[in-house]
Amino acid sequence: MLERLQKVLANHQIASRRKCETIILEGRVKVNGQVITELGTKVSSTDDIEVDGKKLFKQEYTYILMNKPRGIISSVSDEKGRKTVFDLLLKEDQEARLYPVGRLDYDTAGLLLMTNDGALTQRLTHPKHLVDKVYRVVCQGIISREAIKQLRTGVPIGGKHVVKGVQVRVLERRIPTKTSYVEITLVDGKYHQVKEMFASVGFPVSKLTRIRYAFLDSEGIQRGLYRYLKVHEVKKLFGYQFKLK
Ligand code: URA
Repeated sequence: MLERLQKVLANHQIASRRKCETIILEGRVKVNGQVITELGTKVSSTDDIEVDGKKLFKQEYTYILMNKPRGIISSVSDEKGRKTVFDLLLKEDQEARLYPVGRLDYDTAGLLLMTNDGALTQRLTHPKHLVDKVYRVVCQGIISREAIKQLRTGVPIGGKHVVKGVQVRVLERRIPTKTSYVEITLVDGKYHQVKEMFASVGFPVSKLTRIRYAFLDSEGIQRGLYRYLKVHEVKKLFGYQFKLK
């Protein structure tokens, strides 16, 4: 994918986009050994870029943050032939052998990280490193204080695990439609965890959306679209550990 040089520099935290334009105009940037002073110059991930003689770190892997729509499978293929998240990728990203870091259900929307970097996947999915995921839940019924307390202290799911939300807050109780809006933060990722937890306290989920993954949110990413993570975001994910405020 081709991107404007000043954008690539800014993504690498060289300086703000505006300042990067100045740096280019000052003749301090080389692309494949040639000084570039043209602001519109487009570069790709295979180009060698230097600023003041220092090489820019090249990203070897691909990291994608998708805003998954409902009605899409988040695995590589589906035996029922349903559409998968891979169908939403550009051809070059389809060829990059990406896979999702954790899954979202067919009917769940929201943030899904995809990469071909096994080390990052391991880092983010190892139970030793706590990564918080925030879900916006619409559930059936007017959720009780007792149920919220149970979600905070721990509920049994799947017959073997007791899991809890590290943060649970009610956003709204809608009396006329008998629905409740709740935000729950999880640090583990058991199969159907949110749905199981809410079912277990008697308030089944009718709509589920993942609105945050660690420090990443869906700002600027429309449903069904995605963006590439910036170098500093990848670095931050490698050192990420959830801390309860
Ligand atoms: N919990 C669920 O129940 N479903 C998801 O897709 C994600 C978390």
